[in-house]
Amino acid sequence: MRSILKEKNLNNKIILLRLDLNVPLENGKISDTTRIDKILPTLNFLIKQKTKIIILSHVGRPKGKIVKELSLKPIGEDLRKKLNVRLKLITENIFEIKSKDFFEKFDEEILILENIRFYDEEEKNDNKFAKHLASLGDIYVNDAFSCSHRAHASIHQIPKYLPSYSGLQLDLEVAALNKITNKITKPITCIIGGSKISTKINIIKNLISKFDYIIIVGGMANNFIEYFGNNIGKSIKEQNCYKIVDEIISLSKKKECKIIFPEDVIVSKNLNGSSINKELDQISSDDMILDIGPKTIKRIFDIIGVSRTILWNGPAGYFENPNFANGSIKIAKKIIENNKFDKFFSVVGGGDTVSLLNNLNVVGSFNFVSTAGGAFLEYLEGKKLPGITALS
Ligand code: 3PG
Repeated sequence: MRSILKEKNLNNKIILLRLDLNVPLENGKISDTTRIDKILPTLNFLIKQKTKIIILSHVGRPKGKIVKELSLKPIGEDLRKKLNVRLKLITENIFEIKSKDFFEKFDEEILILENIRFYDEEEKNDNKFAKHLASLGDIYVNDAFSCSHRAHASIHQIPKYLPSYSGLQLDLEVAALNKITNKITKPITCIIGGSKISTKINIIKNLISKFDYIIIVGGMANNFIEYFGNNIGKSIKEQNCYKIVDEIISLSKKKECKIIFPEDVIVSKNLNGSSINKELDQISSDDMILDIGPKTIKRIFDIIGVSRTILWNGPAGYFENPNFANGSIKIAKKIIENNKFDKFFSVVGGGDTVSLLNNLNVVGSFNFVSTAGGAFLEYLEGKKLPGITALS
């Protein structure tokens, strides 16, 4: 893997730059800009080298359809203000853009192609699509570590067709995660939460042999609560997961890794409602589980207390509504409290978790904060990430 920082001859080159601008959007407004702010050094470096830049990114999961709410427009506007450059969002169909001469039509230094996942071909890892994208530039740069676990066209295929490099943020994340893997001291605990259940549930099995405790909170915990015979009402869950949960439970027994899932929960009738604490056998059919309860928090505190390393990926509840943010806030505060004594090493990852920590203004209180969620877990798992392999 070669870093773009090492490349001397960039003057006037067209750089196809894959970023992860997948930031939380609420009514067209960005509620957390961490992922944008982190890639500004890469963009400033490329601007200084007098390159022309075409940004590729996705937001959300539009599944090959144009979804107005998932446009990169507000993100482009934020970038324009922060970089103080001429920048344009290209909304025309990518297949109608014929060659790299198309840059000549514009006076801008940066062009952003509209959400790359509006095209079915992206997630299908389509070769022709990648080849066409590659024809628009001279050099490809991947500065999207947090997407590098996806074998998608703009991450995995473009490097076949262009000289390809890693970006500054990707270099930093990989170096930091390598350092962390060497620094890990036992007992080691992984707290996994968030709402991307399908991304994470299959990873857990491979983490069992590496961890002493795996604490499951957030949406995925609902699959475990249901597995043990409880009603989870209208709560989110992943379908057809009985077998994988069963495998996780039996493997954890063999490997002496304790799997912890909520003992009590906070429910509500809807996302905007108020919070009610319930035991697992009290959940009714119209309840939604939206946070962990006080007994569970106490159990998590005990485990944090005996751990020497904590990796935390994904919030414990629907923290966007303060009524369901208590579990995540308490976990954050407890880790920070233990971090004050130097015997503890803490790493936090994932877009939503970073956004939560930003809201609390505590990002600096952890040993390392990664913007990556699924990619962070897969890297820890020891998997080769398609985006990184493609750069090698
Ligand atoms: C992330 O938020 O982890 C990345 O942007 C990848 O998003 P995805 O899980 O939708 O592929």
